[in-house]
Amino acid sequence: EKGGHEYFMLKEIEEQPEALANTLRGHFESGRIILDEQRISDQDLRDVDKVFVVACGSAYHSGLVAKYAIEHWTRLPVEVELASEFRYRDPVLDRDTLVVAVSQSGETADTLEAVRHAREQKARVLAVCNTNGAQIPRESDAVLYTHAGPEIGVASTKAFLAQIAANYLVGLALAQARGTKYPDEVAREFAELEAMPAAVQKVLSTVDQVRDLGRRIADSKAVLFLGRHVGFPVALEGALKLKELAYMHAEGFAAGELKHGPIALIEDGLPVVVVMPSPKGRAVLHSKLVSNISEIQARGARTIVIAEEGDETVRPFADELIEVPAVPTLLQPLVSTVPLQVLAAEIARTRGYDVDKPRNLAKSVTVE
Ligand code: F6R
Repeated sequence: EKGGHEYFMLKEIEEQPEALANTLRGHFESGRIILDEQRISDQDLRDVDKVFVVACGSAYHSGLVAKYAIEHWTRLPVEVELASEFRYRDPVLDRDTLVVAVSQSGETADTLEAVRHAREQKARVLAVCNTNGAQIPRESDAVLYTHAGPEIGVASTKAFLAQIAANYLVGLALAQARGTKYPDEVAREFAELEAMPAAVQKVLSTVDQVRDLGRRIADSKAVLFLGRHVGFPVALEGALKLKELAYMHAEGFAAGELKHGPIALIEDGLPVVVVMPSPKGRAVLHSKLVSNISEIQARGARTIVIAEEGDETVRPFADELIEVPAVPTLLQPLVSTVPLQVLAAEIARTRGYDVDKPRNLAKSVTVE
């Protein structure tokens, strides 16, 4: 059942280390990344010259995260698109296009139609799916299953983290096929992924702190989320969780956009969650975000900062500091998303809502 938890979502949040470990298991054998089903030749994989990731909701955010890694590892252009937009456009697709369809349920109507459209245009389709034998993997040329286990909470948590890990495996499989990464580099990236279940386990030690924070800000009228680079999709995901669970106005922004509009929203006491990059990563990203936080704090925002442990530079600007373990930059979303899931769930619970069954939402969206 709920394993002693007040709601399933908290149990599923705590299952994330296991979901990641299970998703990675068996995908690196004899020095090579392997998919689950591959009805597409190695040569065709080598010939891919463009990647689209199509998905909806949280799955779409997992694609936005993966874009940074896949482009970096493969040097292929990657476009990430909402399935509902992709299918009604006239996207430029051909035999050398790889369309990655990401869907927990494997039954989402818009994503399925996007897959069908892509195949009619002769593109190759690879499904990332959490449900064995669902329609989307059945209609795809290759499949990589996430092994998050069944997700009961309507809001995606463990499936989302597993999608990021699986999308990264797709990136490594492409880099391996194209030779843009040497075998030892692929092995090293995989080893870094394998260290993530332990890192996520460490983040879970912040659950009580974040729940307490959630209770204290539950009567806010809105919450904003800011991030840069891979922290930007994390901000979008944090805002989506809060909207769907707590029925609160929430928006995620790329921090660099602040001055182009969103800063006008800042007012006294408004909670703003900032997803910090590592101070050991690209220095420019870190320092830009520090100046963003100081600007919004000076305008009265209540700053909630998710930062790498030991990052002293952010301390003066953080009204609330939530520390996550140090991990490689591209893997940060796997740790920084976790507190945002807990925050949304606890705000919703405090406001008296059913965390596992938010109003108006269905677990699987098979009608458009
Ligand atoms: C948000 C959420 C949804 C799903 C979306 C796609 O918490 O769960 O946004 O991510 O409906 O669903 P799948 O992955 O089943 O295609």
